[in-house]
Amino acid sequence: MQTFHDKESARQWVWAQRMAGQTVGVVPTMGALHDGHVALAERSVTACDRTIATIFVNPTQFAPNEDLARYPRTLQQDLERLNAAEVDAVFVPAVDEMYLPGFASYVLPPAIAEPWEGAQRPDHYRGVTTIVAKLFHILPASHAFFGHKDYQQARVIQQMVAELDFAIEIEICPTVREPDGLALSSRNRYLTSEEREQSLGLYRALQAAQAAVAEGEDRIAEIESAMRDVLKNHQIDRIDYAIVVDSHDLQPAKRLAELSEGPIALIAAHVGTTRLIDNLKLVVK
Ligand code: PAJ
Repeated sequence: MQTFHDKESARQWVWAQRMAGQTVGVVPTMGALHDGHVALAERSVTACDRTIATIFVNPTQFAPNEDLARYPRTLQQDLERLNAAEVDAVFVPAVDEMYLPGFASYVLPPAIAEPWEGAQRPDHYRGVTTIVAKLFHILPASHAFFGHKDYQQARVIQQMVAELDFAIEIEICPTVREPDGLALSSRNRYLTSEEREQSLGLYRALQAAQAAVAEGEDRIAEIESAMRDVLKNHQIDRIDYAIVVDSHDLQPAKRLAELSEGPIALIAAHVGTTRLIDNLKLVVK
């Protein structure tokens, strides 16, 4: 596996593959890799001729009060995991390689970035669209892989790619979970053992939403209240949102029947000092 720290050699490598007629998959990450990230890399290795992963803890997507400074960094293990997944190359730039002094050219995110995470974390998606656009410019890949775990982020990127005519295909890959259902996240390592128990409330709340829908509940307020009850039973009381919306445009409605595409349940909640998110597409019979 080749490791690039500067954009020019990473770009040359991707170009050389594309000129030779190869498809190239890019897997953007912030490192601290777990099985969810590795599953994205494996999917790219299967789907594309060549795969390049990126590891960059992007400062522009963190608010000043967020965990940029304490974000976990495990580069050596990350490189070993990517190598074992048969990734061909990895791009690991330093901050000053990605952001010129006085950097001010941001990509304005699409409308789908406004509610939910976008409302809770002002400027977060602006940082995400900016860094992903930069990575797509530096690495002219044919495909890119994102996780369902950050569903709104994946939809924001799909929409940016459509609206700004990036010549890249976005694939959203399934959320990888612990055996008990907790979605893997780099932030799970912050949880104490008691908080780890509590954090199961997110997945159980999503399952409660699915159970309500399976029983024929069509009123979204009722489904959301079932989710909040489960969260509260797990002593989770700082809930940023626990909602059921249209999985296409993330807009709310009163009844499932009003949604143009299928429903998706989205949760963001605090467990101790850690903020967790999760989601589940709901299957309506
Ligand atoms: P990061 O949080 O490192 O996640 C990198 C990719 O892994 C994202 O597409 C995310 O959705 C996916 N992922 C995380 N947990 C997952 C899980 N349990 N199952 C499946 N996929 C999972 O998301 C980012 O980094 C950044 O915002 C980034 C897109 C790299 C831009 O900086």
